[in-house]
Formats: sequence, C-alpha cells, structure tokens
Amino acid sequence: MDVKKVIINRCAAVEPVMREYSKIGDEKIQKMILHPLDAGGKRIRPCLTLLAAEAVGGDPESILPAAASVELLHTFTLVHDDIMDHDEERRGKPTVHSIWGDEMGIMIGDTLYSSSFKALIDMRNKGVEDSRVLKAVEALVEANTELQEGQIMDMLFEKDDQVTEDQYMTMIGKKTGALIEAAVKIGCIVGGGSEEQLEAFRIYGSNCGVAFQIKDDVLDLTADAKKLGKPVGSDIRSGKKTLIIVHALAKACEEDRDMIKAVLGNDSASDEDVKAAIDKLGETGSIEYADERVAELISEGKRALGILPDCEAKDSLIEIADFLIDRNM
Ligand code: IPE
Ligand code: IPE
Ligand code: MG
Ligand code: MG
Ligand code: MG
Repeated sequence: MDVKKVIINRCAAVEPVMREYSKIGDEKIQKMILHPLDAGGKRIRPCLTLLAAEAVGGDPESILPAAASVELLHTFTLVHDDIMDHDEERRGKPTVHSIWGDEMGIMIGDTLYSSSFKALIDMRNKGVEDSRVLKAVEALVEANTELQEGQIMDMLFEKDDQVTEDQYMTMIGKKTGALIEAAVKIGCIVGGGSEEQLEAFRIYGSNCGVAFQIKDDVLDLTADAKKLGKPVGSDIRSGKKTLIIVHALAKACEEDRDMIKAVLGNDSASDEDVKAAIDKLGETGSIEYADERVAELISEGKRALGILPDCEAKDSLIEIADFLIDRNM
C-alpha cells in the first residue's frame, strides 16, 4: 500500500475526534465548519503526532485529541491562507471563502483555531499529567505565533525583489516548519517522551517541515492540478518568493530573469505565459536545485531519529520523510 493510504488509515480514528471538537452552532454553521475537514487532505500532521507518541512508548489511542488538535490548527491556517493567496480550490473542493465570502472565511478559520486548543487542553481528561498538557499547549501556541509571523513575511516578500535564500529559509521555517515540528513534539510530550527524544523530534520536524514547504513550492510549478487538489502556478501569479524563484532571480542570465519577472506577480498573466515561465525555471536548473535541498533536509531529519528505539512507528516516520520527497500531491 502506498504511504498516503497508510497515513489516512492510521488517522481514521482522528476524524470523528476533530468533528467532535468542532461542534458549534446549528446545521448551517456546522456545514461551513466541516467543509474544509470533509474535503480531505493528506493528514500528515496528525499522523506524525500519533507516530511520535507511539515511538516513545505512548498509547496512540489515548492521544487522539492531541492529533486532532494539530490538524484543526492546520486546517484553520489553510482557510486563512486561501483568502490571503486568493485561491479558489483546496483539497479538490472550492475554498471556504470562495463559497461563503472572505468575512465568513475569517470566522470559520477562527472557529477551527479555538477548536484546536479545546482539543489539546482536553488531554487533561485523558490521563495525561497537567504539566505535560501545559507543555504541549506551549508548543502549539509557539508554533502558531511563528506560523503567523511566517505568513506575514510570505506576504511582505511578494512585493520585494531582493529576498535572499536565507530570508526564504527563515520564512518557511516559520510558516510551515514550526507546525510540523510541533506535530511531532506534541506527540512526544503527551506520549511521555524524554528531553533527549524531544530534541530528536525537534530536529526531525524542523528539517522535514522546511523540506515539505520547498516541495510544496516545486509542486506549485510541476504538479497536476487535479491530483494536487489546488491550483498550479498560483505562486508565480501572486509573486511569491519561493526558493525556485529566489534561485532563478539570482542565477539566471538577464534575458531569462526579465522573462520570469514579467510573469511574476502578474495576476492577469495567461496560462501560456505562466507555462513558459515554469519551463524557464526548469531550464535555469532552479527546480532541480530546490529538489536537491529537499533531499538534503530529509536525510538530516531522518538522521535525528537514530536515538529512538527500533520500532514500527520509527520505520513509519522514516517512510513519511521519504514520501515528502516523492509526493505528487
Ligand atoms: C499545505 O499543506 C500547506 C503547506 C504548509 C504547504 P498540506 O500539503 O499538508 O495540505 P493538506 O492537509 O494535505 O491539504
Ligand atoms: C502555506 O503555504 C503555508 C501555511 C501556513 C498554510 P502555501 O500558501 O504555499 O500553501 P498552499 O500551497 O496554498 O497549500
Ligand atoms: Mg496558499
Ligand atoms: Mg500562502
Ligand atoms: Mg504552496
């Protein structure tokens, strides 16, 4: 079975738990809240939480609300991200704001956000010591603050042609790395892991998280939109400074650079123009460069798991890291 299906199967038990903590309002309100959850998604983050807990000897069954919490927070960020990025499709379905408007999108996002914390705090009632629940909540708050900072940087960079690779790496470490790191750290904390294990998960999560975003940026150029469940070429049209763009602007010859710049941030660029710019990014070696960074980061992340006892959960954490390189969705 492929890794995607393994992840979905492992997370099957998280699905009703997410819905339980999102029960707010009447049928009409519920429909809007459940829309982004029912649309699907890979469920990588809750799976990482369950696996990290299991790898340190915790019982994945008893930490389901913690796993649900991480995915609820992620889903909240996607609803707001689609408003920011003006995207109309997510998880193969119309985005919340494209159906019900930006105002409603903000509120639906905020509701998922508080549901996330409600679920994590409820770990107190699942036999986890208060001190560990508090530590997990701290990890989630910290990740969310970083994520919002990263999203602000992402938007500021749209209007900045001088973004460096270091600045890009810092930005994605925040907008995406922080939550993936928190997903495994929270699993380790509520699963009863040691400080040494927590440090290993910090390294695994931050490296894989950054690699995950670089791959997401590559997929925005190279994927099949149907498989991806979201638009392709959106980053170019909105002028996002992805690693591929930062690399091309720094390394390409003047003619190629001008051609890319003419499409970058041009919302009315035609599909043909965007396609030509993507082909150019391939020719300049910028996509290949990004893929190489992904592979390096993933091997660094996997290395950190060396201190964990050999077990099935550890093997799955390694498989998921590898999937992050090869995924096409
Ligand atoms: C998308 O995350 C947003 C990023 C951080 C790149 P995913 O690719 O995990 O989205 P879903 O949850 O599978 O829809
Ligand atoms: C989003 O990055 C990261 C988040 C914190 C949600 P993107 O804007 O690239 O994510 P997608 O491609 O829309 O999923
Ligand atoms: Mg987006
Ligand atoms: Mg975005
Ligand atoms: Mg993207």
